[in-house]
Amino acid sequence: MKRIFITGALGQIGSELVTALRKRYGTDNVVLSDIKADKSEFSNSGPFYQVDCRDSKKIVEIIKKHGIDTVYHLAALLSASGEANPQAAWDINVNGLYSVLEVARETGIAVFTPSSIGAFGPNTPRDFTPQDTIQRPTSMYGITKVTGELLCDYYYHRYGVDTRGVRYPGIISNVKEPVGGTTDYAVYMYYEAVEKGRYTCFLKGDTYLDMIYMPDAIKAGIDLMEANPERLRHRNAFNVTAMSFCPEDEAAYIRRYIPGFEIDYSIDPVRQALANSWPNSLEDYAARVEWGWSPEYDLDSMTQDMLKVLQKRKDRGRK
Ligand code: NAD
Ligand code: SER
Repeated sequence: MKRIFITGALGQIGSELVTALRKRYGTDNVVLSDIKADKSEFSNSGPFYQVDCRDSKKIVEIIKKHGIDTVYHLAALLSASGEANPQAAWDINVNGLYSVLEVARETGIAVFTPSSIGAFGPNTPRDFTPQDTIQRPTSMYGITKVTGELLCDYYYHRYGVDTRGVRYPGIISNVKEPVGGTTDYAVYMYYEAVEKGRYTCFLKGDTYLDMIYMPDAIKAGIDLMEANPERLRHRNAFNVTAMSFCPEDEAAYIRRYIPGFEIDYSIDPVRQALANSWPNSLEDYAARVEWGWSPEYDLDSMTQDMLKVLQKRKDRGRK
């Protein structure tokens, strides 16, 4: 039975990964942390620490106290927040990870760290981007993600730390709204479709990016950490994807279920530039072969599920 520590547990991924890990390993075996305080049932129902991921001393204490063997390191600034504050992005994303890796070197715990499609850049092959290819990102977020991949590989080869990671595409979810990302438009479009029947998108309608529905993103994180290490030829970080679409495609699928849905555009140049520098679609063969990765949701099944969940929530709110 794993005993898990999570940094950045209150974010978009943490808010759903925690529930999945608690179900699998038991609530007391999943220790949450975030730089923010939280008084909700979510964090009150199990162990929670308000701690900065750069505070390695405090994290070692927690790891020892709870007998932790695995950390899911989710604390980070995302792409648009990183462009708004590049210094903070470097500090949190790189120094935060460095602190966690040092803790792992000292205590022997395994480390899961998400990288991103942001780790690619404008001269990466754009279609079916291979696992091993050119990575020259032009955003601070991307630079921190490539640095993170390299650091994690270094700690594995040099110190034997069991580091593993995936390059997540944009994640679509309905528990915690995303903040500060470029792919966030795809989440907001569903929320606004249900609330208002219309959406103003900050990316151009024909901007293709890889996406994944949260249940598949969670499955990837758990399956990789449970994979047989002997089968892993790669470690940091595996391409994973479930679908590639643009805002116009998403709007068209929403119209299958909300026929009057309307979309218009007010382009954010910063997020458009980030999206333009990322792949249109990834190839995830290594993840499929080395640890059996296979997503369940495509654009249609995700759209149906998102709209069903959000509509139910709206109807409950009306009562
Ligand atoms: P998020 O922004 O929703 O959550 C991050 C959490 O980290 C927040 O709760 C924040 O309070 C916390 N945090 C920030 N600085 C901290 C610090 N110094 N110490 C401790 N906690 C701190 O992010 P997310 O979407 O949950 O992403 C988690 C990871 O997955 C990140 O590494 C991100 O780059 C990666 N990722 C996310 C996506 C996506 O679409 N959400 C896609 C690719 C990769
Ligand atoms: N979803 C993330 C972002 O847009 C990609 O890593 O920043």
